Order: sequence, then structure tokens, then C-alpha cells
Amino acid sequence: MKRTVRAVYPGSFDPITNGHIYIAERAAAIFDEVRVSILVNPQKHSTFSVEERHAMAREALSYLPNVTVDHFTGLLVDYLRQERSRVIIRGLRAMSDFEYEFQMALMNRQLAPEIETFFIVTDPKYSYLSSSVIRDIFQFGGTVHDMVPPGVFRRLRERFPPISQGRDPRRNGHA
Ligand code: PNS
Repeated sequence: MKRTVRAVYPGSFDPITNGHIYIAERAAAIFDEVRVSILVNPQKHSTFSVEERHAMAREALSYLPNVTVDHFTGLLVDYLRQERSRVIIRGLRAMSDFEYEFQMALMNRQLAPEIETFFIVTDPKYSYLSSSVIRDIFQFGGTVHDMVPPGVFRRLRERFPPISQGRDPRRNGHA
């Protein structure tokens, strides 16, 4: 009987960007199932709630039949064991990502030697793209629609209305 290989692609996804979608798509072409899993971290302030991040990711990835969206708290390796997965997917944009990713992969291996981390290199056009850069651009009145999926663009516009509509950018998008 053929074994199904399930990979977990973890992250904050606050919000999901086209760079994340590129990585999920490439992972989906290799692994039988890919679970995009959003870290719920009560200690870290996020711009979007887990429900919003979940909805945005699900909408954006619905065209990939073997990709699902989930969320988790606690240790990533515990979540993988619970989900019967032995594969972590992480995207690499530049050498500057490498040190942090390498440390995380080694720590996860120390905690769970049976779990493997796979790195997928981004498309160069997304090498400078991150959720925090996207948030900053919207927060300070800029706009980018070719870097995020349409549902994310719409929610960013709702959260950070354009400054020309009378918003004070120092108020962080909140009324
Ligand atoms: O998108 P991010 O914020 O770079 O993702 C980081 C993430 C969620 C993969 C990482 O913070 C994580 O796995 N957190 C869960 C806690 C954990 O397992 N920590 C030990 C690994 S170093």
C-alpha cells in the first residue's frame, strides 16, 4: 500500500503573501499532502486574528487540492507528531534567512530526530517580500496588489484604509 507523505508548512502567516503561496505550491507538487499551519502565539501581537489568517490562507490556497490550512500552539514538533507528519517545510529567501532557519531546524532535530526540515528556495521576485514589509507598506499609506492574494489585499485595505481617506498613519490603522 502506498504511504501518504504529509508535510507541514508552519509560520505566522500574518498575513499570507504570494511568497508563501509560491512555497506551498512547490511543496504541493512534491508531497502528497501539505498542511499550512498557523502558529497561534498568545505572547506575540498579531495584526490579524488566527481566524482571519486562517480564512485568508484558505481562500488563497483553495486552488491546490492537496493543501489544507490549520493552526497550532506550542511546540512545532509536538504538532507534527500529533498530525503524523515527519516533514517540515520552510521557505528560504536569502542568506540572511539561513542562520535562523538552520538554528530552528537543528533545534527541531534535537527535539524530534525523526522529523526532517526541507527548505524550498523562493522565486527571486519574492526574495524581498515578507508579511512585515507588507504590513508596513499598508500601515504607512502605500499599496501593493501583486504581492498578496486579492482576499488579503481587501482585508489590508479594510484594516489600513488609504491615508487619502483621512486616516492618520501614526494610529496604526485602528480607529
Ligand atoms: O513565519 P515565522 O514567524 O518565521 O514562523 C516561525 C515558526 C512558527 C515556524 C516557529 O516560531 C515555530 O515553530 N514556533 C513554534 C514553537 C517551537 O516549536 N519552537 C521551537 C523551534 S526553534
